[in-house]
Amino acid sequence: MAKPRIISGIQPTGKLHLGNYLGALKHYVELQESGKYDCFFFIADLHSLTENYDPKQKQADVLEVIATFLALGLDPKKSTLFLQSAIPAHTQLAWIFNTLTPMGELERMTQYKDKAARQKQNVNVGLFTYPVLQAADILLYKPFGVPVGQDQIQHVELTRMIARKFNTKYGELFPEPKELLTPVPKVMSLLEPEKKMSKSLGDQHVINLTDEPDVIKKKLARAITATEGGSENPGVTNLLTLLEQFDADKAKAFWKQEADRTIRYSDVKAELTDTLDHAFAAFRKEHARLLAHPKECVTVLEAGNKKAEKVACATLDVVTDKVGLR
Ligand code: ADP
Ligand code: TRP
Repeated sequence: MAKPRIISGIQPTGKLHLGNYLGALKHYVELQESGKYDCFFFIADLHSLTENYDPKQKQADVLEVIATFLALGLDPKKSTLFLQSAIPAHTQLAWIFNTLTPMGELERMTQYKDKAARQKQNVNVGLFTYPVLQAADILLYKPFGVPVGQDQIQHVELTRMIARKFNTKYGELFPEPKELLTPVPKVMSLLEPEKKMSKSLGDQHVINLTDEPDVIKKKLARAITATEGGSENPGVTNLLTLLEQFDADKAKAFWKQEADRTIRYSDVKAELTDTLDHAFAAFRKEHARLLAHPKECVTVLEAGNKKAEKVACATLDVVTDKVGLR
């Protein structure tokens, strides 16, 4: 029997950070390694055009994501790794979904509202219909689940709504995929720990997976903590939660010290620097090697694009009939 499918995408908008890793990327690798799923992971380059960007930088950003995928252990023999814009079926299905999606639903989307507030000079229609393209990305592959961070739940809910609407209007075709969350669905910013860690806040707010230990050390030195232990401070919770993901025993000892008020935050930061350095040393090496061999990355994507296109075109074919375009 065919394995249940999962699909997820990441925008090529720069370096990937610990939030991306603990909220999504780590989960991708675990799901792949479980052997239980037919895994599809892609680079959402069309989505990334909705933000302010430099066209000359885009290919480097695409390379950054595929090199990160591969260096973290996504394996083209086990997962289909592809580029969204290589498969026109995504935009074609998105158009049909546009005709099913009420404006009001999109107006409610918090990511749209956040981004529109952040880029006031560029509130483009693509930003508004972004979740509709995301629904097409997902439903073309008729997956059972979508591994994402907490901030994407609303988009997966909308995807289910669009699937239901389509099925009701045109006849049963799409499943209603679930979001698959990790144990740490939300990593917080180092400098403003009440906000999610996001590259849009600025480089000092995030720890990139490629950051060398001296950079991690400097960033953590500035990370917000508390003046004393036992105060349930969000910055402290964030640092200990991060450590917990890589070394549960060490985190446990610090949690105890935090409760006893004997904790020294400089010790937490030093431990976290070492732990992250070790956790990503092999990754940094392989990532650098892949960036120096872009052809290797391109070859992986080309093979993945072919596999993805087959699945996507088969779905779009049925849709074309069902909606009466043929
Ligand atoms: P950013 O906010 O830095 O631009 P993206 O929106 O490109 O990151 O996110 C890519 C993936 O990483 C999504 O699945 C998202 O849910 C996840 N993600 C991003 N930031 C975080 C975070 N701080 N905590 C948990 N998951 C995150
Ligand atoms: N919107 C997602 C993000 O900001 C990226 C994305 C685009 C995506 N299409 C998708 C995620 C389909 C999962 C499935 O991170």
